[in-house]
Amino acid sequence: MKLADRMSRISVSGTMLVSEKTIQLRERGIDVVDFGAGEPDFSTPENVKQAGIRAIQGNFTRYTAIGGIRELRSAIVDQHARDFESRYDISECIVNVGGKHSIFNLCSALVNEGDDVLIPTPYWVSFGDIAHYVGARTVWIPTREDDGFRLTAKMLEAAITPKSRLLIVNSPCNPSGAVIDDEEFERIAALCLKNDIWLLSDECYSKFLYDGRKPYSIASRPEFRSHVVIAGSLSKTYAMTGWRIGYVLGPRDVVSAVQKLQSHSTSNPTSISQKAALEAVTGSQDSVQRMLAEYAKRRTFVVERLRAIAGVHCEMPGGAFYAYPNIAASFERGIESSMDFAVKLLEKEYVAVVPGSAFGTRDHIRISYATSMELLDNGLTRMARFIESL
Ligand SMILES: Cc1ncc(COP(=O)(O)O)c(C=O)c1O
Repeated sequence: MKLADRMSRISVSGTMLVSEKTIQLRERGIDVVDFGAGEPDFSTPENVKQAGIRAIQGNFTRYTAIGGIRELRSAIVDQHARDFESRYDISECIVNVGGKHSIFNLCSALVNEGDDVLIPTPYWVSFGDIAHYVGARTVWIPTREDDGFRLTAKMLEAAITPKSRLLIVNSPCNPSGAVIDDEEFERIAALCLKNDIWLLSDECYSKFLYDGRKPYSIASRPEFRSHVVIAGSLSKTYAMTGWRIGYVLGPRDVVSAVQKLQSHSTSNPTSISQKAALEAVTGSQDSVQRMLAEYAKRRTFVVERLRAIAGVHCEMPGGAFYAYPNIAASFERGIESSMDFAVKLLEKEYVAVVPGSAFGTRDHIRISYATSMELLDNGLTRMARFIESL
């Protein structure tokens, strides 16, 4: 079949094989513990669900403004200003169909064919494929495990090429949980400014920080505004993955370009979801704190259990809801790769994890702790047994 050339630039996600096998096992009635899912196990908060129901009952079911209703854009801008002291005007905000769509739109609006897009590894799976789809070349910036996988300005400086156009930063990071220090973030932004490189900050997990650390946004620093674009998402913060609401904050011309693109593709994000999102952003934030407290307990539990397994090394993630243990010791005991580890763990002990190869590193697997303590306990017992059996 003749498909467009651009389709050959992207591949199906490296997580696919494990998730397909998980489905097959479950169809056979097997009890699989799934640590693969990158989404909260909590339900959408009740006040948010009710706002969605009210929107349907009030017939708020027609097209809206392409970039989202004014009240929602205004609420997002206000929330960002409250949280981070950013100063965006409503014309510098657009609502998209999830954070992934925000990143896709931004790459389409900012990157030319043949440009270089800089991406620290390990990285979230879609960054590279989106960059390739828009015709860019990816320049990977390996981070150091013994420094918690944090990007530094020094690493960026060494990676910059004459064609560098965009740097994508995700802090806290999926999959490693790495959090860039605030001052380092500013050094990174200063380098972007100096080299005329866009800095796309994916703030999907910005509220998921531990040990009392305060959320940070590079948008709090006005001197970098001309080169900073923010991609935000309500998916994880408010357990709203299925509602599909994300947003862009950035210079007016960028937002206008994203709006133009959106007008010819998705049009407005779902009207009902926008009303639910408005409640999420303006209503009580108690549910966010409750979920964070639960994730914090799970993080400690998971990392301690992983560290207790001989041959497993695990950095303490500073944010998000993933652990990224190093399982390279198993390569000396018959395991060929992180994918081989994930497949065998699934086949032998029925535990699903994502191989690090999907995120650009060789020696790791990703465990999502957005799942109950009971399942974490059960799955980690099985995983320890698997490793001991090698
Ligand atoms: C790092 C990162 N960015 C963005 C997203 C996009 O989330 P959504 O499209 O659901 O808003 C995700 C989702 O997994 C993610 O992990």
